[in-house]
Amino acid sequence: MNITVIGAGYVGLVTGACFADLGNHVTCIDVNQEKIKHLNQGIMPIYEPGLDAIVQANRDAGRLRFVTSFDDVQHEPQVIFIAVGTPSNQEGAADLQYVLEAAKNIGVYLNQYCVIVDKSTVPVGMADQVEGVIRAELKRRAKAITFDVVSNPEFLREGAAIDDFMRPDRVIIGCSSKRARNIMLDLYLPLMRNTEKLYFMNVKDAEMTKYVANAMLATRIFVYE
Ligand SMILES: NC(=O)c1ccc[n+]([C@@H]2O[C@H](COP(=O)([O-])OP(=O)(O)OC[C@H]3O[C@@H](n4cnc5c(N)ncnc54)[C@H](O)[C@@H]3O)[C@@H](O)[C@H]2O)c1
Repeated sequence: MNITVIGAGYVGLVTGACFADLGNHVTCIDVNQEKIKHLNQGIMPIYEPGLDAIVQANRDAGRLRFVTSFDDVQHEPQVIFIAVGTPSNQEGAADLQYVLEAAKNIGVYLNQYCVIVDKSTVPVGMADQVEGVIRAELKRRAKAITFDVVSNPEFLREGAAIDDFMRPDRVIIGCSSKRARNIMLDLYLPLMRNTEKLYFMNVKDAEMTKYVANAMLATRIFVYE
């Protein structure tokens, strides 16, 4: 499958490298030119055991590329992951400007049916906003292209990211279309011999699942005095 990943940070880089290692053709786009220059020299922006070897092997095999713009994506993607940051603002709410910018760029460049997968941690209802932004751009371009927006939140732990990605406890997929469901199934089945760890649900339930998991983890942090 041809995959584009927007954002080559912790989540995007691990996602892109691991899906390339499973045989997909992956292009990671990041606006940080220095990061992309380093990745193209084999220099990792993060330390994650095993990541550099996977990146190098898949770059050498021609399955993993790093670019700074959609202009440099060579193959039309069947799946686009949004994996940009959603840092907290002063009120503690997620800053969604990077997700909305990524959605706008998708609308500018989309040429054929595609599954847009939100991997960033976002509030419930964000997929609707992403869909609205893409739709507005397509309308502006007078293009009648269909697409589906799927929520596939990430649960990897820093320091064990490759292992968590390749041997997941659970994969949450929120989607409302059968076409998108089948594509997500194709994508994730190589990671598991059966589908018992693959949880399909509606989009908002998937968005909520990530927030609930984070809230649960927060209650497990103890402060010893
Ligand atoms: N780091 C984790 O352990 C972890 C785990 C689960 C979920 N998440 C969530 O995943 C999301 C990404 O987190 P991260 O840690 O990978 O963030 P990060 O800050 O490491 O990486 C985000 C990347 O996106 C790039 N970017 C921003 N806007 C862009 C745009 N318009 N086009 C292309 N690239 C753009 C940035 O330059 C940066 O390299 C966040 O929502 C985060 O909450 C993170």
